[in-house]
Amino acid sequence: MSDLTALEAETLTAIAAAADEAALESVRVGALGKKGSISALLATLGKMSPDERKSAGVQINALKDKVSEALGARRAVLKEAALEARLSSERVDVTLPTRETGIETGRIHPISQVMDELTAIFADLGFSIAEGPDVERDDYNFTKLNFPEGHPAREMHDTFFFAPNEAGERKLLRTHTSPVQVRTMLAQKPPIRVICPGRTYRCDSDQTHTPMFHQVEGLVIDKQANLGHLKWILEESCKAFFEVPSVKMRFRPSFFPFTEPSMEVDIQCSRKGGEIRFGEGDDWLEILGCGMVHPNVLRNCGLDPDEYQGFAWGMGIDRIAMLKYGMPDLRPFFDADVRWLSHYGFRPLDFPTLAGGLSG
Ligand code: DAH
Repeated sequence: MSDLTALEAETLTAIAAAADEAALESVRVGALGKKGSISALLATLGKMSPDERKSAGVQINALKDKVSEALGARRAVLKEAALEARLSSERVDVTLPTRETGIETGRIHPISQVMDELTAIFADLGFSIAEGPDVERDDYNFTKLNFPEGHPAREMHDTFFFAPNEAGERKLLRTHTSPVQVRTMLAQKPPIRVICPGRTYRCDSDQTHTPMFHQVEGLVIDKQANLGHLKWILEESCKAFFEVPSVKMRFRPSFFPFTEPSMEVDIQCSRKGGEIRFGEGDDWLEILGCGMVHPNVLRNCGLDPDEYQGFAWGMGIDRIAMLKYGMPDLRPFFDADVRWLSHYGFRPLDFPTLAGGLSG
């Protein structure tokens, strides 16, 4: 039976030497598989005499059990080692910072931010947002707003006109957001409380003017709306916008065809050290035009001026954005330069709210 001893030693050595589960499996097949060495020995039992079979059977089966047991033990060790190797190769350091996606690296343009801030402020005062198209009818941009044909105020708007269409109508790029007043009054009955932020266009370009710029219009129409209400709304919205506890305003008489009386509004500021601050100082800065809606405009928009009255105002968004966020130059607003945007832009998930803070 020294054959068996040699076979045992050889097989156990091979089992111990198997470096992975595949190698171990081939040792198993070589010993216990159909054509394996131990299986071959078991097959010889049938040809033996009963006595021989008795002693040989015990020995061969003992060898088989020993080998099976060694295989099982080695398999458990290899499985454990394979798991260890996999765990260490797939290790993730959860304390590493996450990679930034667009939602963290993208920035909201200051103009969009300011529009969102104005929306939050005026929504709180019970206003809704009204919109109109950039390509506007002459009738809405001028005529219904009480700019008579040939009136010099039309010339002051440096209008971009389109070629007349088949119907002979000459459209234009709206020169102000005031035509949205007309559209709103034609579409809904008072009481009306809207603001209309949007793009406006004038053929003008220098250090402080760009051919496309932004305005926000306000319109309130009901049976009693008066200049006292206008003044309060402007003061409250300016305080909220500039995030200061108080702000002084100055109303100067002015002229717009669509309001009577018309006023321009200055707000108090200080310019110490070349920096503009609101809510202090004894300097003034013009920020908007306003007035009581002209009876002709009400009539042109289907409202009876003996029944309804109201006020309106219009303000440049680019300018108030520059003032609030200390941006010295208007032109980079339209350059689409990511360096400027990542410096002056706002985080996309920091929505402006009155409760949470407008500018974060
Ligand atoms: N539309 C005027 C402009 O662009 C601004 C303006 C002034 C709007 C007075 C108004 C207003 O609604 O009442 O210069």
